[in-house]
Amino acid sequence: MRIIVGITGGIAAYKAPELVRLLKKAGHEVRCAATEHALEFVTRVTLETVSGAPLYSNLFASGRTEHISLKDWGEILVVAPATANIIGKVAGGIADDALSTLLLAFSQKPVIMAPAMNCEMWAHPAVQRNVALLKSWGIRMVGPEEGELACGVNGVGRMAEPEQIVDAVCQSESLKLKGERWLVTAGPTYERIDSVRFIGNYSSGKMGFALAEALAKQGADVELVTGPTYLNVSNCQHINVHRVESAREMYAAATEAFPRCQGAILSAAVADYRPAECADHKLKKQGDEGMTLQLVQNPDILATLGGMKRESQRLVGFALETDHELENAQGKLKRKNLDYIVMNSLRDKGAGFGTDTNKVTILAADGSRKESPLLSKKEVAEMIVQEVTS
Ligand code: C5P
Repeated sequence: MRIIVGITGGIAAYKAPELVRLLKKAGHEVRCAATEHALEFVTRVTLETVSGAPLYSNLFASGRTEHISLKDWGEILVVAPATANIIGKVAGGIADDALSTLLLAFSQKPVIMAPAMNCEMWAHPAVQRNVALLKSWGIRMVGPEEGELACGVNGVGRMAEPEQIVDAVCQSESLKLKGERWLVTAGPTYERIDSVRFIGNYSSGKMGFALAEALAKQGADVELVTGPTYLNVSNCQHINVHRVESAREMYAAATEAFPRCQGAILSAAVADYRPAECADHKLKKQGDEGMTLQLVQNPDILATLGGMKRESQRLVGFALETDHELENAQGKLKRKNLDYIVMNSLRDKGAGFGTDTNKVTILAADGSRKESPLLSKKEVAEMIVQEVTS
């Protein structure tokens, strides 16, 4: 891999050359980027000698946009040591030197940080909040470890050993779905009746959002096509959110994305029908005899993708059933040319729409079957991803 090692100004910077040496020994190409304060602890000559490449430390030195060309070159950025300062800058979106600017430019690529600081600094609520924020964006933290610190006290704050950081880099290289793109649909669809009314359903989108996060956690890039929901993704580095309203909009976004994907999980609760006409004004009451709304059928996105599916692609559907659950789900699996169908029954307490929990049975095209107990939607998502990508 092409790895950028970012070094900031903490005493643990003296271990950075060793980290660079180990990464090179493991067969990676390495370039270094350092803050001005890092160069108080480790010299430019040392970093350029061990990496075999020029050091990037001055935003303005070359008069070119080096932070962008370096971002394009690197496949992963490892910041070791990461001071409270650089963690805070990234959390606050500050880019006032070479490394912090590079870090912001790296928002679509994997970043690993190895924090190192005094234990009381590490425990500060601001640092803890910033670390939690960075983690929620998909930045991985290695350490810090407990032990003797440079200031002479014992506590949590020691930078992880270079070998441990190298292991974390290798792990991120071996993520199961790295380099794959997956499509997920989530949430309800709204089908307009007039300028102020729609036909919808109670789907919250929680299951689909949890699936997108679980796929991204395994290294996949995700195209998440969602109907109206208040949810947001936490891993925005790897999840591209397309917000749509109606089944036809979802159809357009999903059929556009699917050919570029290795697989798709369709968990959206798509309306089967929509009003034949949508009035461009608010419909008025029409006397006492009631009103008839004519509905026409929506396209079936899952069945369409089933028809488009290439040999190498995997397609997973959902079946929310109230009766004859297994029979119905197995019928859909065949009819829509799926590899898996995830069945949930509204008869199971805690399963289905709106809840934070779910209980599912995953049926495979080869006839095998896996059941989950009642779990959080996050846990169910991880189980589904594990099953359909193995
Ligand atoms: O046939 P049924 O609607 O029960 O199938 C449910 C599955 O089909 C879900 O995976 C859902 O996301 C998908 N679906 C779809 N387009 C539709 C209706 C359902 O993709 N119009």
